[in-house]
Amino acid sequence: MPELSDSASGAPTNNGTTSPLTIIIFGASGDLTHRKLLPALFDQAVDGLLHPETRILGVARRQKTHLEFREEIRESVQTFARNTGRLDLFPEFEKRIFYHAMTFDDPNGYNALRTTLLSDEFRKPTQGNVLYYLATPPSYFVPIIRNLGSYGLSTINEGETATGGGFTRIIIEKPFGRDLASAQDLNREVLQVFRENQVFRIDHYLGKETVQNIVVFRMSNPAIGSLWSNVHVKSVHITVHEAVGVEGRGDYFEEAGILRDMVQNHLFQLMTLTAMEPPVAFEAQAIRDEKVKVLRSLKPIRTEDIPKVIVRGQYTVGEVDGVPVPGYRNEPKIPPTSDTPTFARIKVEVQNWRWAGVPFYLTAGKRMTRRETIIRIVFKEVPFALFRLAGCPGTVSNELIIRIQPNEGIALRFGIKRPGGRLVIDPVEMDFSYQTAYHDKAPDAYERLLHDAIIGDSTLFARNDEVERSWTFIAPLLGDLSRLSPLRFYTAGTDGPEEKDRLDDPLPA
Ligand SMILES: NC(=O)c1ccc[n+]([C@@H]2O[C@H](COP(=O)([O-])OP(=O)(O)OC[C@H]3O[C@@H](n4cnc5c(N)ncnc54)[C@H](OP(=O)(O)O)[C@@H]3O)[C@@H](O)[C@H]2O)c1
Repeated sequence: MPELSDSASGAPTNNGTTSPLTIIIFGASGDLTHRKLLPALFDQAVDGLLHPETRILGVARRQKTHLEFREEIRESVQTFARNTGRLDLFPEFEKRIFYHAMTFDDPNGYNALRTTLLSDEFRKPTQGNVLYYLATPPSYFVPIIRNLGSYGLSTINEGETATGGGFTRIIIEKPFGRDLASAQDLNREVLQVFRENQVFRIDHYLGKETVQNIVVFRMSNPAIGSLWSNVHVKSVHITVHEAVGVEGRGDYFEEAGILRDMVQNHLFQLMTLTAMEPPVAFEAQAIRDEKVKVLRSLKPIRTEDIPKVIVRGQYTVGEVDGVPVPGYRNEPKIPPTSDTPTFARIKVEVQNWRWAGVPFYLTAGKRMTRRETIIRIVFKEVPFALFRLAGCPGTVSNELIIRIQPNEGIALRFGIKRPGGRLVIDPVEMDFSYQTAYHDKAPDAYERLLHDAIIGDSTLFARNDEVERSWTFIAPLLGDLSRLSPLRFYTAGTDGPEEKDRLDDPLPA
């Protein structure tokens, strides 16, 4: 039987020490567990980042044996893991995987979980450490959390905690609420059962290497950092385009819309990392303090400004990559008169010393030309058109383009003189590509985030006040906007409605 790599011994790594633990995944037969969570845990095991005594206990409704569950996980790992070349390690990995069938409202199920966690087979090798993962539809978050509290599962490792040894933690999937009131309710429920430092609210965008690199790129390069303000920057454009539509989740998307699905979470994370001040230390509390300050600095949206700060769109029938696709209103489970936006561009202003006067444009859309997440920093023009007076047509604006996905990298756009006798300035790019510089496939975001939760590092997870601040800001845009910002239709496979460029006008007073 092949062994997991040496560093899988639980020894400290340069990513932090991993402790043995039991990971209980609620929603273990779901899409997320199969496509992301178990492949990520396998990849961690192969890379030596998962303690060999770790147990993984899947919980879901359908009856199945441990062996049947392991067989399903094998297929997921074969399809979705990064280290598919190391499937010889799967037999060792699967010994740690177990399954427990229960419905989320079943008291006997929680009692049985407690018995399992306290059994010698689980407790001794894992030192009683537990990480719960709520990979369920959001409507189950509160019932599960309440039951974890009622059945003593949130304090199951209290003895060890008192002696400084062990932990009980919980990861909660997105969406964290659907508006301010529901996010506050959920925070209240969670914090009645767990302490804030036990809670890890996940936004998988934060696990992406290129997202973490926004901070490193800004704050480890003085030449870049010194340009990062309204002195030099004219505008910031953060764009998340998806080529896919609602992918069989029409009922969910119709309720959520693009503002809840993408903007309140992923785009706000990218914005706060781009705009935040350098933290006093590179640690969770300090970084999250700075992100919250950005959210606090956002100019509130007044009703009368709504037409000037948002363009909402919805896709109609078209083609993506040459394949015909239906319009949003023709997708399954979507009413034919739906007013739900599948595209939004909003213009926000961070009202602080660094960013006053610089518009941030946040754009998200489904059924766009292609999948692409980028941050584009557009710099101010030269103060004096020296070359125009010498007969040279046009100038080039400097732009820094951070590609989050795909083709991760950073490009700088600048002007150069075209060779030859005439004075002509051409735009060119210097381009750094992760793929070219680092040939290894980067770890998936879920690998990084699971690892961080296991070692107790909450830097890349949202804090309660951060979530509530973002909902507070976006609240005016979540109601019925059919009058203030009527839907603009765009053909699937294009880059959104033409009206989106209307927001490039000066900011409203
Ligand atoms: N899928 C993704 O790519 C993705 C990405 C980002 C975030 N998320 C978030 O992750 C969470 C899970 O998403 P998903 O797509 O994996 O969901 P899903 O495919 O619908 O899976 C739901 C899981 O919950 C279980 N379940 C549902 N009702 C239950 C009940 N009453 N008692 C016991 N088990 C029950 C199901 O078990 P049975 O199969 O046995 O019924 C299944 O394991 C959601 O909050 C979603 O927003 C998902």
